[in-house]
Amino acid sequence: MTPNPPFSASDERPAGRVERFETVAALQEEAVASFAAAAIAAIRDRGRFMVALSGGSTPRDVYARLASGTAPGSQIAWERVQFFWGDERHVPPDHPDSNFRMAYDAMLSRLGIDGDAIWRIKGEYPDASIAADEYEHDLRRAFGVHGHAWSGAVAPADGTLPRFDLVLLGMGPDGHCASIFPGTQAVREERRLVVANWVPQFNTSRITLTAPVLNNADAVIFLVQGDDKADALASVLEGPSDPDRFPSQLIRPRHGNVRWLVEAAAARQLTRQ
Ligand code: 6PG
Repeated sequence: MTPNPPFSASDERPAGRVERFETVAALQEEAVASFAAAAIAAIRDRGRFMVALSGGSTPRDVYARLASGTAPGSQIAWERVQFFWGDERHVPPDHPDSNFRMAYDAMLSRLGIDGDAIWRIKGEYPDASIAADEYEHDLRRAFGVHGHAWSGAVAPADGTLPRFDLVLLGMGPDGHCASIFPGTQAVREERRLVVANWVPQFNTSRITLTAPVLNNADAVIFLVQGDDKADALASVLEGPSDPDRFPSQLIRPRHGNVRWLVEAAAARQLTRQ
């Protein structure tokens, strides 16, 4: 698959590299290989792999394939991996909608992973803002960073932000990523690492990592499938900058890279394909 050159909607940093796949299976295979390559490199270079998992339906089969006991997942030193989530629903961990439960059932339980390697967002807390505060504290503890995120265009050099080796993201038909939905408070968050975000579209709170953290990652991979994503994807990648309407436009990692693994149906409105 020859990736397209980086391009930018209206920002000096490229919006990312778009890689088109004719089938969801091919997209998921690439995601598996990319996850494994990132994990193996991070463990080799830093002794651990810090990854933020995505919720939604697209990654589920990626997680299952990684846990299947076959290559390339079987080549990962799973005991060196620390698992985080990009967002969580305001539900208990055993709820069918829980992003934790989806990843646990598809991958973590099959790999025998639990305990300290799992940094779960406590969606069961009655007050989602307490879950967000606690997760922000967990991130600082896990990454050994202190202080507050900055407000401004340039990331501080003093390492006050957690730096994930890899963040997996999906994109909704409305252009949201993680739980940063159009027109919600989280779009404009520049200081907090994690927020409780009221989502009127669903009449519920979500807990989500914010753009400062997501943009501090070494690598971000979007997994996008489905005809229902085509309009939003074209707006996100090729339309004018309007992150309040299309929050996925916020994701432009400062020192990492962003790859868009896109299934053909979702890519059908792109002109640069
Ligand atoms: C969630 C995800 C969300 C998801 C997108 C795409 O909590 O649901 O974090 O951002 O990635 O909605 O979901 P699909 O992969 O199911 O299309």
